[in-house]
Amino acid sequence: MKQAKMIVDRLNHISQIDNRIYGSFIEHLGRAVYDGIYEPGHPLADEAGFRKDVIELVKELKVPIVRYPGGNFVSGFNWEDSVGPKQNRPKRLDLAWFTTETNEVGMQEFQNWLDEVDSEMMLAVNLGTRGVDAARNLVEYANHKEGSYWSDLRKSHGKKEPYNIKTWCLGNEMDGPWQMGQKTAYEYGRLANETAKMMKWVDPSIELVACGSSKMVMPTFADWEATVLTETYDEVDYISLHNYWANFEDDTASFLSGGVLMDDFIRSVVAICDYVKAKKRSKKQINLSFDEWNVWYHTKESDKEIEHWLQAPPRLEDVYNFEDALLVGGLLISLLKNSDRVRMACLAQLVNVIAPIMTETGGKSWKQAIYYPYYYTSVYGRGEALKVNLDCPKYDCREYTDVTMLDSVAVYSEEERTLTLFVLNRSMEEDLEVACDLRTLDIESCICNIAIEGYDYKAVNTAQQPDAVIPVEKSTKIYEDGYMNTVIRKSSWNMYRFRVNR
Ligand code: AHR
Repeated sequence: MKQAKMIVDRLNHISQIDNRIYGSFIEHLGRAVYDGIYEPGHPLADEAGFRKDVIELVKELKVPIVRYPGGNFVSGFNWEDSVGPKQNRPKRLDLAWFTTETNEVGMQEFQNWLDEVDSEMMLAVNLGTRGVDAARNLVEYANHKEGSYWSDLRKSHGKKEPYNIKTWCLGNEMDGPWQMGQKTAYEYGRLANETAKMMKWVDPSIELVACGSSKMVMPTFADWEATVLTETYDEVDYISLHNYWANFEDDTASFLSGGVLMDDFIRSVVAICDYVKAKKRSKKQINLSFDEWNVWYHTKESDKEIEHWLQAPPRLEDVYNFEDALLVGGLLISLLKNSDRVRMACLAQLVNVIAPIMTETGGKSWKQAIYYPYYYTSVYGRGEALKVNLDCPKYDCREYTDVTMLDSVAVYSEEERTLTLFVLNRSMEEDLEVACDLRTLDIESCICNIAIEGYDYKAVNTAQQPDAVIPVEKSTKIYEDGYMNTVIRKSSWNMYRFRVNR
């Protein structure tokens, strides 16, 4: 068996993780909202129409922030449609997904749901069909206490205290031809800057995310970021990254190596941020919000058949398999390895639409295979991220060369007295005998050893078989005298937790 060495050094500090790195996303798209989180006729719906089983599944994930209401949807959205008495809210054609939006769930209903799941809103403003005026009014409606038109309107809608929404997105994927109101980088940069300036004049405490490229392969990638940041540098706090991974050609070796692309994408965007910083002689650092990431391809073809103008038709309902779960686990490792600059991220999305949680309308809810790496990383990956030094064999695949078989990051929590180690073995060929040096950490014992391993790459969870791909608990007798010695199986995602002495 091949061997690998790892070292976790207490001084190998990456960052104090911003918990918003475990964010997610709910868009008015398909059955995410309607027949997803909200299904008034369902036997498990609460008085407000929200499904209690879904609330429980979301709560387990400890999702700290949820991006809303889009996505592509937001680029044609009139926020005023979604506030005030429900009976007065208009039905609109949504040109992002060619559906009919009833606005039955709006800002207050969504906030109520967020309160139920202990999360907060990351609110996107429409910079596609609208602009500065609508955005500054929305900040006034949401965050200004009282004594002005929009804040008093909010109060008249029954919401006395402001929402105090802290994190805002300046539009969505404005570089894409599929976007309502697509713009050039300069057009968007100017608009985003003026919008940001006025939103912060209304509430200086907010944080703003400017749109980066909608994926790394966009022909405008890099120039887009450089131009947008040149125009917006002083007013914004983050630049967004979006990327979806796919295994269209059934090339699982390359697919499982997708973390290489994420690392590369992040490094490139950091370089651009710092280039603009240098050019401007600025002391300010722009950080990254990877606010759309996931696997998305299983439904791309079939969704083309969906009839137009339906209300909440099933769409983007990818059924995730074992290899998707491995990749998602690997991408979470990549986000944490880069958590000094990636301060926020959103797994896109949360319920039914390319989501870890699925529901049947009128029926069950269950956890997809990707739920598990997200769950373990979100729940146990809080604290201080530590770099893991690796000496391990490498492989080549069609898309990448010299890929390390292992990818890993550690998280130290002073509060919990734990060290948590996340490790992906992305090799499809080799189990690895691993010696991990933990001597700088004064470990008492191993308290948890979880693996997602050994399944058929295409195995999936369904309503009928919800436990086809689940993690297994393994022996904790793997720690002795400062070392963890264990075998990490090929194609496996692993979490090890250790109790640390005070
Ligand atoms: O998450 C689905 C869609 O993917 C979002 O609406 C859009 O921003 C991205 O292209």
